[in-house]
Amino acid sequence: RVVDGTRVFELTAQEGTTEFRPGVQTETWGFNGSYLGPTLRAERGERVAVEFTNELGERTSVHWHGMHLPAAMDGGPHQEVEPGATWRPTWEIDQPAASLWYHPHPHGVTEEHVYRGLAGMFLLDDDASRAAALPQEYGVDDVPVIVQDKVFDDDGQLELEDNGSEPGTLGGTVLANGTVGAYHEVTTERVRLRLLNGSTARTYQLGFQDRDMELVASDGGLLDAPVTLEQVRLAPGERAEVVVEMEPGETTRLHSFEADLGGVVVPFAMGGNDAFDVLELRAADELTPSPEPAWEPSVHAAQDALHEDSAAVTRTFDLDDRQINGRRMDMGRIDEVVSEGDTEIWEVRSIVPMPHSFHVHDVQFRILSVDGDAPPPELAGPKDTVYLEPNRTYRLLMRFDDYTDPDVPYMFHCHMLLHEDEGMMGQFVVV
Ligand code: C2O
Ligand code: CU
Ligand code: CU
Repeated sequence: RVVDGTRVFELTAQEGTTEFRPGVQTETWGFNGSYLGPTLRAERGERVAVEFTNELGERTSVHWHGMHLPAAMDGGPHQEVEPGATWRPTWEIDQPAASLWYHPHPHGVTEEHVYRGLAGMFLLDDDASRAAALPQEYGVDDVPVIVQDKVFDDDGQLELEDNGSEPGTLGGTVLANGTVGAYHEVTTERVRLRLLNGSTARTYQLGFQDRDMELVASDGGLLDAPVTLEQVRLAPGERAEVVVEMEPGETTRLHSFEADLGGVVVPFAMGGNDAFDVLELRAADELTPSPEPAWEPSVHAAQDALHEDSAAVTRTFDLDDRQINGRRMDMGRIDEVVSEGDTEIWEVRSIVPMPHSFHVHDVQFRILSVDGDAPPPELAGPKDTVYLEPNRTYRLLMRFDDYTDPDVPYMFHCHMLLHEDEGMMGQFVVV
Protein backbone atom coordinates (compact mmCIF):
# COMPACT_ATOMS: atom_id res chain seq x y z
CA ARG A 1 0.00 0.00 0.00
CA VAL A 2 1.42 3.41 -0.94
CA VAL A 3 -0.08 6.43 0.84
CA ASP A 4 1.16 9.93 -0.08
CA GLY A 5 4.42 8.50 -1.39
CA THR A 6 5.04 6.33 1.68
CA ARG A 7 5.03 2.55 1.40
CA VAL A 8 2.94 1.25 4.29
CA PHE A 9 3.22 -2.26 5.69
CA GLU A 10 0.76 -3.74 8.16
CA LEU A 11 2.11 -6.38 10.49
CA THR A 12 0.28 -8.14 13.28
CA ALA A 13 1.95 -10.50 15.72
CA GLN A 14 -0.53 -13.23 16.49
CA GLU A 15 -0.95 -16.74 17.88
CA GLY A 16 -2.00 -19.66 15.74
CA THR A 17 -1.33 -23.27 14.89
CA THR A 18 0.86 -24.73 12.16
CA GLU A 19 0.79 -28.20 10.67
CA PHE A 20 4.50 -29.00 10.39
CA ARG A 21 3.68 -32.71 10.25
CA PRO A 22 0.54 -34.20 8.71
CA GLY A 23 -2.32 -34.19 11.21
CA VAL A 24 -0.39 -32.50 14.03
CA GLN A 25 -1.31 -28.93 14.99
CA THR A 26 1.60 -27.15 16.65
CA GLU A 27 0.98 -23.90 18.54
CA THR A 28 3.06 -21.17 16.95
CA TRP A 29 3.31 -17.41 16.56
CA GLY A 30 3.55 -15.47 13.34
CA PHE A 31 3.20 -12.08 11.67
CA ASN A 32 -0.12 -11.88 9.75
CA GLY A 33 -0.39 -15.66 9.94
CA SER A 34 0.49 -18.60 12.14
CA TYR A 35 4.23 -18.92 11.43
CA LEU A 36 6.91 -16.50 10.10
CA GLY A 37 5.72 -13.36 8.27
CA PRO A 38 5.31 -11.79 4.84
CA THR A 39 8.36 -10.75 2.83
CA LEU A 40 8.49 -6.96 2.92
CA ARG A 41 10.16 -5.18 0.02
CA ALA A 42 11.18 -1.57 -0.57
CA GLU A 43 13.35 0.58 -2.73
CA ARG A 44 16.37 2.70 -1.89
CA GLY A 45 15.16 6.28 -1.41
CA GLU A 46 11.62 5.22 -0.57
CA ARG A 47 9.89 6.23 2.66
CA VAL A 48 8.36 3.30 4.50
CA ALA A 49 5.96 3.13 7.44
CA VAL A 50 4.89 0.11 9.43
CA GLU A 51 1.72 -0.33 11.44
CA PHE A 52 2.67 -3.05 13.86
CA THR A 53 -0.05 -4.43 16.12
CA ASN A 54 0.71 -6.81 18.96
CA GLU A 55 -2.11 -9.32 19.35
CA LEU A 56 -0.07 -11.61 21.61
CA GLY A 57 -0.85 -11.89 25.29
CA GLU A 58 2.48 -10.25 26.21
CA ARG A 59 4.79 -7.40 25.21
CA THR A 60 6.97 -7.85 22.13
CA SER A 61 8.72 -5.66 19.54
CA VAL A 62 9.75 -5.81 15.92
CA HIS A 63 13.32 -4.98 14.93
CA TRP A 64 14.58 -4.34 11.38
CA HIS A 65 17.78 -6.35 11.34
CA GLY A 66 20.45 -4.79 9.10
CA MET A 67 18.52 -1.57 8.51
CA HIS A 68 20.08 1.87 8.75
CA LEU A 69 17.46 3.98 10.51
CA PRO A 70 16.85 6.24 13.53
CA ALA A 71 17.29 4.48 16.88
CA ALA A 72 13.72 5.28 17.91
CA MET A 73 12.46 3.30 14.87
CA ASP A 74 14.83 0.36 15.41
CA GLY A 75 12.37 -1.87 17.29
CA GLY A 76 14.78 -2.98 19.99
CA PRO A 77 14.05 -3.43 23.70
CA HIS A 78 13.35 0.32 24.08
CA GLN A 79 10.45 0.15 21.60
CA GLU A 80 8.41 -2.66 23.11
CA VAL A 81 4.74 -2.82 22.22
CA GLU A 82 2.16 -3.76 24.85
CA PRO A 83 -0.55 -6.35 24.10
CA GLY A 84 -3.27 -4.80 21.99
CA ALA A 85 -1.16 -1.74 21.13
CA THR A 86 0.01 -0.50 17.71
CA TRP A 87 3.47 0.94 16.99
CA ARG A 88 4.07 3.10 13.92
CA PRO A 89 7.73 3.51 12.94
CA THR A 90 8.65 5.32 9.73
CA TRP A 91 11.99 5.92 7.99
CA GLU A 92 13.62 6.37 4.61
CA ILE A 93 15.45 3.47 2.99
CA ASP A 94 19.01 4.74 2.63
CA GLN A 95 21.33 1.83 1.92
CA PRO A 96 22.18 -0.58 -0.92
CA ALA A 97 19.96 -3.45 -2.05
CA ALA A 98 20.15 -6.33 0.43
CA SER A 99 18.34 -9.23 2.06
CA LEU A 100 17.50 -7.94 5.53
CA TRP A 101 15.04 -9.43 7.98
CA TYR A 102 12.79 -8.57 10.90
CA HIS A 103 12.12 -10.23 14.22
CA PRO A 104 11.08 -9.38 17.81
CA HIS A 105 13.65 -7.96 20.24
CA PRO A 106 11.86 -7.73 23.63
CA HIS A 107 14.13 -7.50 26.65
CA GLY A 108 15.06 -10.97 27.92
CA VAL A 109 12.64 -13.02 25.80
CA THR A 110 13.86 -12.60 22.23
CA GLU A 111 14.86 -16.26 21.92
CA GLU A 112 11.38 -17.48 22.79
CA HIS A 113 9.58 -15.03 20.50
CA VAL A 114 11.74 -15.87 17.50
CA TYR A 115 11.62 -19.60 18.27
CA ARG A 116 7.82 -19.56 18.35
CA GLY A 117 7.87 -18.29 14.79
CA LEU A 118 8.13 -14.50 14.64
CA ALA A 119 10.50 -13.60 11.76
CA GLY A 120 10.36 -12.50 8.14
CA MET A 121 12.51 -11.17 5.30
CA PHE A 122 12.82 -7.49 4.37
CA LEU A 123 14.29 -7.14 0.88
CA LEU A 124 15.73 -3.88 -0.41
CA ASP A 125 16.22 -3.01 -4.08
CA ASP A 126 18.16 -0.32 -5.89
CA ASP A 127 19.11 0.55 -9.47
CA ALA A 128 22.24 -1.60 -9.38
CA SER A 129 20.42 -4.68 -8.09
CA ARG A 130 17.66 -4.31 -10.64
CA ALA A 131 20.13 -3.95 -13.53
CA ALA A 132 22.23 -6.91 -12.32
CA ALA A 133 22.39 -10.12 -14.35
CA LEU A 134 20.92 -12.12 -11.48
CA PRO A 135 17.78 -14.22 -11.14
CA GLN A 136 15.19 -11.82 -9.72
CA GLU A 137 11.72 -13.15 -10.24
CA TYR A 138 10.49 -13.52 -6.68
CA GLY A 139 9.26 -17.01 -5.86
CA VAL A 140 10.32 -18.34 -9.26
CA ASP A 141 14.10 -18.04 -9.55
CA ASP A 142 14.69 -15.72 -6.58
CA VAL A 143 13.67 -17.51 -3.43
CA PRO A 144 14.06 -16.62 0.24
CA VAL A 145 15.11 -19.59 2.39
CA ILE A 146 14.71 -19.09 6.13
CA VAL A 147 16.56 -21.93 7.87
CA GLN A 148 15.50 -22.85 11.41
CA ASP A 149 15.75 -25.88 13.68
CA LYS A 150 13.16 -27.09 16.16
CA VAL A 151 12.61 -29.61 18.93
CA PHE A 152 9.08 -31.06 19.05
CA ASP A 153 7.79 -32.73 22.21
CA ASP A 154 5.73 -35.94 22.25
CA ASP A 155 2.56 -33.97 21.53
CA GLY A 156 4.10 -32.27 18.52
CA GLN A 157 4.44 -28.93 20.35
CA LEU A 158 7.53 -26.73 20.28
CA GLU A 159 9.86 -27.64 23.13
CA LEU A 160 10.64 -24.31 24.78
CA GLU A 161 12.83 -25.60 27.58
CA ASP A 162 16.51 -25.12 26.95
CA ASN A 163 17.94 -28.54 26.03
CA GLY A 164 21.30 -27.85 27.53
CA SER A 165 23.37 -26.85 24.52
CA GLU A 166 25.65 -23.97 25.37
CA PRO A 167 24.31 -21.51 22.75
CA GLY A 168 20.66 -22.46 23.39
CA THR A 169 18.29 -25.08 22.07
CA LEU A 170 19.52 -27.09 19.08
CA GLY A 171 16.71 -28.85 17.26
CA GLY A 172 16.84 -32.12 15.36
CA THR A 173 14.26 -30.97 12.79
CA VAL A 174 15.25 -28.39 10.21
CA LEU A 175 12.66 -26.20 8.52
CA ALA A 176 12.99 -24.13 5.35
CA ASN A 177 10.42 -21.32 5.37
CA GLY A 178 8.55 -23.15 8.12
CA THR A 179 8.33 -26.39 6.13
CA VAL A 180 9.76 -29.82 6.93
CA GLY A 181 11.06 -31.53 3.79
CA ALA A 182 10.68 -28.38 1.69
CA TYR A 183 11.19 -28.42 -2.06
CA HIS A 184 11.18 -25.85 -4.84
CA GLU A 185 10.33 -26.51 -8.48
CA VAL A 186 12.99 -24.87 -10.60
CA THR A 187 12.04 -23.66 -14.09
CA THR A 188 15.18 -21.67 -14.94
CA GLU A 189 18.82 -22.62 -15.51
CA ARG A 190 19.86 -20.74 -12.42
CA VAL A 191 18.14 -20.06 -9.15
CA ARG A 192 19.04 -17.49 -6.51
CA LEU A 193 18.56 -18.52 -2.89
CA ARG A 194 18.46 -15.78 -0.26
CA LEU A 195 19.62 -17.80 2.74
CA LEU A 196 18.84 -16.55 6.23
CA ASN A 197 19.91 -18.33 9.38
CA GLY A 198 16.78 -17.57 11.40
CA SER A 199 17.67 -20.07 14.10
CA THR A 200 18.18 -19.02 17.68
CA ALA A 201 21.36 -21.02 18.29
CA ARG A 202 22.54 -23.33 15.52
CA THR A 203 25.28 -22.44 13.05
CA TYR A 204 24.91 -24.09 9.63
CA GLN A 205 27.36 -24.96 6.90
CA LEU A 206 25.17 -24.83 3.80
CA GLY A 207 25.97 -26.22 0.37
CA PHE A 208 25.31 -28.96 -2.18
CA GLN A 209 26.93 -32.38 -2.33
CA ASP A 210 27.16 -32.37 -6.12
CA ARG A 211 27.91 -28.79 -7.18
CA ASP A 212 29.39 -25.45 -6.22
CA MET A 213 27.41 -22.27 -5.73
CA GLU A 214 28.12 -18.66 -6.65
CA LEU A 215 27.96 -16.45 -3.59
CA VAL A 216 26.66 -13.07 -4.80
CA ALA A 217 25.71 -11.17 -1.63
CA SER A 218 26.30 -11.17 2.10
CA ASP A 219 24.21 -9.58 4.90
CA GLY A 220 24.26 -6.02 3.59
CA GLY A 221 24.24 -6.49 -0.18
CA LEU A 222 26.15 -7.51 -3.28
CA LEU A 223 29.81 -8.53 -3.11
CA ASP A 224 32.28 -6.84 -5.44
CA ALA A 225 32.07 -9.93 -7.68
CA PRO A 226 30.64 -13.45 -7.43
CA VAL A 227 32.66 -15.99 -5.44
CA THR A 228 32.54 -19.72 -6.20
CA LEU A 229 32.08 -21.74 -3.01
CA GLU A 230 31.30 -25.29 -2.00
CA GLN A 231 29.74 -24.30 1.30
CA VAL A 232 28.92 -21.19 3.27
CA ARG A 233 28.86 -21.05 7.06
CA LEU A 234 25.98 -19.04 8.53
CA ALA A 235 25.65 -18.24 12.21
CA PRO A 236 22.33 -17.04 13.68
CA GLY A 237 21.33 -13.76 12.04
CA GLU A 238 23.67 -14.02 9.03
CA ARG A 239 22.48 -14.07 5.40
CA ALA A 240 24.02 -15.14 2.10
CA GLU A 241 22.64 -14.96 -1.42
CA VAL A 242 23.81 -17.82 -3.61
CA VAL A 243 23.13 -18.69 -7.25
CA VAL A 244 22.91 -22.38 -8.17
CA GLU A 245 22.93 -23.91 -11.66
CA MET A 246 20.60 -26.77 -12.59
CA GLU A 247 20.34 -29.24 -15.50
CA PRO A 248 16.91 -30.08 -16.95
CA GLY A 249 15.09 -32.81 -15.05
CA GLU A 250 17.58 -33.18 -12.22
CA THR A 251 17.11 -32.98 -8.47
CA THR A 252 19.57 -31.73 -5.88
CA ARG A 253 19.45 -30.78 -2.24
CA LEU A 254 20.67 -27.84 -0.22
CA HIS A 255 22.34 -29.57 2.67
CA SER A 256 23.65 -28.46 6.03
CA PHE A 257 27.02 -30.12 6.56
CA GLU A 258 28.86 -30.62 9.81
CA ALA A 259 29.86 -27.07 10.63
CA ASP A 260 33.48 -26.07 11.15
CA LEU A 261 33.09 -23.98 14.28
CA GLY A 262 36.79 -23.17 14.65
CA GLY A 263 38.29 -24.27 17.95
CA VAL A 264 35.12 -24.71 19.99
CA VAL A 265 35.80 -26.89 23.05
CA VAL A 266 33.77 -30.11 23.19
CA PRO A 267 31.51 -29.44 26.19
CA PHE A 268 30.29 -26.34 24.38
CA ALA A 269 30.03 -28.03 20.99
CA MET A 270 26.88 -27.33 19.11
CA GLY A 271 25.92 -30.77 17.91
CA GLY A 272 28.88 -30.41 15.59
CA ASN A 273 28.26 -33.65 13.72
CA ASP A 274 24.68 -32.82 12.82
CA ALA A 275 23.84 -32.77 9.12
CA PHE A 276 20.50 -32.05 7.49
CA ASP A 277 18.78 -31.70 4.16
CA VAL A 278 17.28 -28.22 4.06
CA LEU A 279 15.65 -27.75 0.66
CA GLU A 280 15.23 -29.96 -2.39
CA LEU A 281 15.47 -28.34 -5.82
CA ARG A 282 13.59 -30.15 -8.60
CA ALA A 283 14.33 -28.94 -12.11
CA ALA A 284 11.69 -29.09 -14.82
CA ASP A 285 12.45 -30.96 -18.04
CA GLU A 286 12.88 -27.68 -19.86
CA LEU A 287 14.60 -24.72 -18.26
CA THR A 288 14.45 -21.06 -19.26
CA PRO A 289 17.94 -19.62 -19.85
CA SER A 290 19.43 -17.51 -17.02
CA PRO A 291 22.35 -15.11 -17.35
CA GLU A 292 25.73 -15.71 -15.78
CA PRO A 293 25.78 -13.71 -12.49
CA ALA A 294 27.32 -10.25 -13.05
CA TRP A 295 26.68 -6.66 -12.01
CA GLU A 296 28.05 -3.17 -12.19
CA PRO A 297 28.99 -1.37 -8.99
CA SER A 298 26.14 0.72 -7.65
CA VAL A 299 26.07 4.42 -8.51
CA HIS A 300 26.04 4.83 -4.74
CA ALA A 301 29.20 2.74 -4.27
CA ALA A 302 31.41 5.73 -3.49
CA GLN A 303 28.96 7.06 -0.93
CA ASP A 304 28.66 3.65 0.76
CA ALA A 305 32.39 2.85 0.73
CA LEU A 306 34.28 2.73 4.01
CA HIS A 307 37.87 3.93 4.34
CA GLU A 308 40.14 2.46 6.97
CA ASP A 309 42.47 5.46 6.97
CA SER A 310 39.65 7.74 8.05
CA ALA A 311 38.89 5.68 11.17
CA ALA A 312 38.85 8.08 14.11
CA VAL A 313 38.22 5.66 16.97
CA THR A 314 39.08 2.06 17.79
CA ARG A 315 36.99 0.19 20.35
CA THR A 316 37.60 -3.26 21.80
CA PHE A 317 34.87 -5.78 22.60
CA ASP A 318 35.84 -8.92 24.50
CA LEU A 319 33.10 -11.53 24.70
CA ASP A 320 33.24 -14.15 27.43
CA ASP A 321 30.38 -16.53 28.15
CA ARG A 322 27.59 -13.98 28.75
CA GLN A 323 29.30 -10.62 29.06
CA ILE A 324 30.83 -8.05 26.75
CA ASN A 325 33.82 -6.25 28.26
CA GLY A 326 32.91 -7.77 31.63
CA ARG A 327 29.41 -6.35 31.68
CA ARG A 328 25.92 -7.67 31.13
CA MET A 329 23.17 -5.73 29.43
CA ASP A 330 21.67 -2.92 31.49
CA MET A 331 18.78 -1.06 29.88
CA GLY A 332 19.74 2.07 31.82
CA ARG A 333 23.44 2.15 30.90
CA ILE A 334 24.93 3.52 27.68
CA ASP A 335 28.09 1.53 26.96
CA GLU A 336 29.49 3.45 24.01
CA VAL A 337 29.01 6.97 22.69
CA VAL A 338 29.70 7.39 19.00
CA SER A 339 30.07 10.70 17.18
CA GLU A 340 27.96 11.33 14.11
CA GLY A 341 29.93 10.97 10.90
CA ASP A 342 32.77 9.02 12.48
CA THR A 343 34.34 5.97 10.92
CA GLU A 344 35.32 3.48 13.64
CA ILE A 345 37.13 0.19 14.00
CA TRP A 346 35.61 -2.31 16.39
CA GLU A 347 37.97 -5.09 17.45
CA VAL A 348 35.81 -8.01 18.54
CA ARG A 349 36.98 -11.25 20.08
CA SER A 350 35.47 -14.25 21.84
CA ILE A 351 37.92 -14.80 24.69
CA VAL A 352 36.40 -18.15 25.70
CA PRO A 353 36.39 -21.40 23.70
CA MET A 354 32.78 -20.99 22.70
CA PRO A 355 31.23 -19.44 19.63
CA HIS A 356 29.34 -16.20 19.36
CA SER A 357 27.61 -14.36 16.52
CA PHE A 358 28.31 -10.63 16.85
CA HIS A 359 25.72 -8.19 15.50
CA VAL A 360 25.67 -4.39 15.39
CA HIS A 361 22.47 -2.41 14.80
CA ASP A 362 22.19 0.61 12.45
CA VAL A 363 25.25 -0.08 10.28
CA GLN A 364 26.75 -2.45 7.75
CA PHE A 365 30.44 -3.09 8.47
CA ARG A 366 33.38 -4.45 6.53
CA ILE A 367 35.67 -7.05 8.07
CA LEU A 368 39.18 -5.66 7.75
CA SER A 369 40.97 -8.70 9.12
CA VAL A 370 40.60 -11.91 11.08
CA ASP A 371 43.59 -12.36 13.39
CA GLY A 372 45.61 -10.10 11.13
CA ASP A 373 44.78 -11.91 7.89
CA ALA A 374 42.53 -10.62 5.15
CA PRO A 375 39.03 -12.11 5.51
CA PRO A 376 38.01 -14.96 3.20
CA PRO A 377 35.99 -13.69 0.18
CA GLU A 378 32.67 -14.73 1.71
CA LEU A 379 33.36 -12.36 4.62
CA ALA A 380 34.64 -9.50 2.49
CA GLY A 381 31.25 -7.98 1.59
CA PRO A 382 28.90 -5.80 3.63
CA LYS A 383 28.01 -7.48 6.93
CA ASP A 384 26.00 -6.74 10.05
CA THR A 385 26.53 -10.05 11.84
CA VAL A 386 29.64 -12.21 12.00
CA TYR A 387 30.41 -15.62 13.46
CA LEU A 388 33.31 -15.30 15.89
CA GLU A 389 35.63 -18.26 15.97
CA PRO A 390 36.97 -18.41 19.53
CA ASN A 391 40.14 -16.49 20.34
CA ARG A 392 40.42 -14.71 17.02
CA THR A 393 40.25 -10.95 16.62
CA TYR A 394 37.80 -9.61 14.04
CA ARG A 395 38.50 -6.00 13.04
CA LEU A 396 35.28 -4.40 11.81
CA LEU A 397 35.13 -1.08 9.96
CA MET A 398 31.91 0.94 10.15
CA ARG A 399 30.65 4.50 9.83
CA PHE A 400 27.84 6.20 11.73
CA ASP A 401 26.52 8.62 9.16
CA ASP A 402 23.54 10.29 10.79
CA TYR A 403 20.47 9.89 13.04
CA THR A 404 21.83 11.35 16.25
CA ASP A 405 19.80 10.75 19.40
CA PRO A 406 21.45 11.07 22.80
CA ASP A 407 18.54 9.37 24.56
CA VAL A 408 17.70 6.32 22.48
CA PRO A 409 20.41 3.67 22.07
CA TYR A 410 21.09 1.08 19.42
CA MET A 411 22.19 -2.43 20.44
CA PHE A 412 25.21 -4.61 19.77
CA HIS A 413 24.97 -8.20 20.90
CA CYS A 414 25.46 -11.89 20.35
CA HIS A 415 22.80 -13.23 17.94
CA MET A 416 22.74 -16.60 19.67
CA LEU A 417 19.55 -15.44 21.27
CA LEU A 418 19.89 -17.23 24.60
CA HIS A 419 23.20 -15.41 25.03
CA GLU A 420 21.53 -12.12 24.14
CA ASP A 421 18.65 -12.71 26.56
CA GLU A 422 21.09 -13.65 29.32
CA GLY A 423 22.86 -10.33 29.00
CA MET A 424 25.38 -10.55 26.16
CA MET A 425 24.32 -7.18 24.77
CA GLY A 426 25.36 -3.56 25.07
CA GLN A 427 24.02 -0.17 24.01
CA PHE A 428 25.46 2.71 22.01
CA VAL A 429 24.16 6.13 21.12
CA VAL A 430 25.10 8.31 18.17
CA VAL A 431 25.46 11.99 19.10
CU1 C2O B 1 18.64 -9.49 14.65
CU2 C2O B 1 19.55 -6.99 17.69
O1 C2O B 1 19.03 -8.25 16.18
CU1 CU C 1 19.63 -6.15 14.42
CU1 CU D 1 27.03 -15.84 22.05
